[in-house]
Amino acid sequence: MIIGEIPLPSGAFGVDAVAMTMRFGDFTALDDVGLKVRPGTLHALLGENGAGKSTLVKCIMGYYHATEGQIIVGEREQTIANPKDAHALGLGMVYQHFTLVPAMTVAENLVLARDNVPAVVDWAKEKKELEAFLAQMPFKVPLNARVSGISAGERQKCEILKQLYLKRRFLILDEPTSVLTPGEADEVLGMLRAMVEKGELTILMITHKFREVMAFADEVTILRRGKLAGKGLVKELTPDAMARAMIGAEELTIQPPRSGETGGVRLELNKVCALDDAGAIAVNDVSLSVRGGEIVGIAGVSGNGQRQLVEV
Ligand SMILES: Nc1ncnc2c1ncn2[C@@H]1O[C@H](COP(=O)(O)OP(=O)(O)OP(=O)(O)O)[C@@H](O)[C@H]1O
Ligand SMILES: [Mg+2]
Repeated sequence: MIIGEIPLPSGAFGVDAVAMTMRFGDFTALDDVGLKVRPGTLHALLGENGAGKSTLVKCIMGYYHATEGQIIVGEREQTIANPKDAHALGLGMVYQHFTLVPAMTVAENLVLARDNVPAVVDWAKEKKELEAFLAQMPFKVPLNARVSGISAGERQKCEILKQLYLKRRFLILDEPTSVLTPGEADEVLGMLRAMVEKGELTILMITHKFREVMAFADEVTILRRGKLAGKGLVKELTPDAMARAMIGAEELTIQPPRSGETGGVRLELNKVCALDDAGAIAVNDVSLSVRGGEIVGIAGVSGNGQRQLVEV
């Protein structure tokens, strides 16, 4: 690993994963997959559950050691032995689930995420520097608010901001909008898109949402069962073509017929109300019934009472 020899690039740079194979025992999660993310682009990585998307990005970030394959960062081949190596090269990752410490403020979360935090932090100085940093960012977050008190959309912005604060210039986002409303998702992706267009950032985004791919991504790579199933410029593709590559054209047309009768009502909720652990209303006036032999889905953005409903 050669770190410190070349300075971190200040702008966007690309990452090339060449002929990546990852085996877990006998199981091949990635089979000779290539992924080329050009500098200053937003690249979408698509695939069904279990297609190998997270495995591929974990290999890039050094969480996994690929069985075979090379990673090229900028113009140079690199051995990324662990996430620290990836961070030193300017690579950062935002997880689907939040990693901020809820009991700390946004400012504390940002400063304490640095590698070089002094034993005694000069908070007045740090705050000043944070404000100067924030002034250059398109995101606005409340620095003095406790993370536990801010919305999911604001938390996700803080996660991304943390990566930018840590001077990461190649961001991997694993389903960054799963906890956001469509409005919040558009806001966050729009801001990132603007930074990409200015040449400040390169983004690799795992997503299941074609709408976001069509609206925000330049290029797409599609995996299916660990293999490369397609790639191309988004402007030359349709959601239908991408779905066919993800699922396999043959399988897209086969819809198993629904069979079996539904039985009597087995569970009935009548105007259920419940408070969450903090005493706020989590479930308000929910009525539903579930019949025998039936699957009932509950839809909604994460954090809107689904968990409390199940607990009730
Ligand atoms: N540490 C591991 N050990 C064994 N098998 C694993 C491991 N990690 C992933 N796999 C398997 O590799 C395959 C690909 O998993 P991966 O998490 O990369 O899928 P994914 O495309 O990210 O799916 P999702 O959309 O559900 O997040 C799956 O079959 C998974 O069970
Ligand atoms: Mg995954």
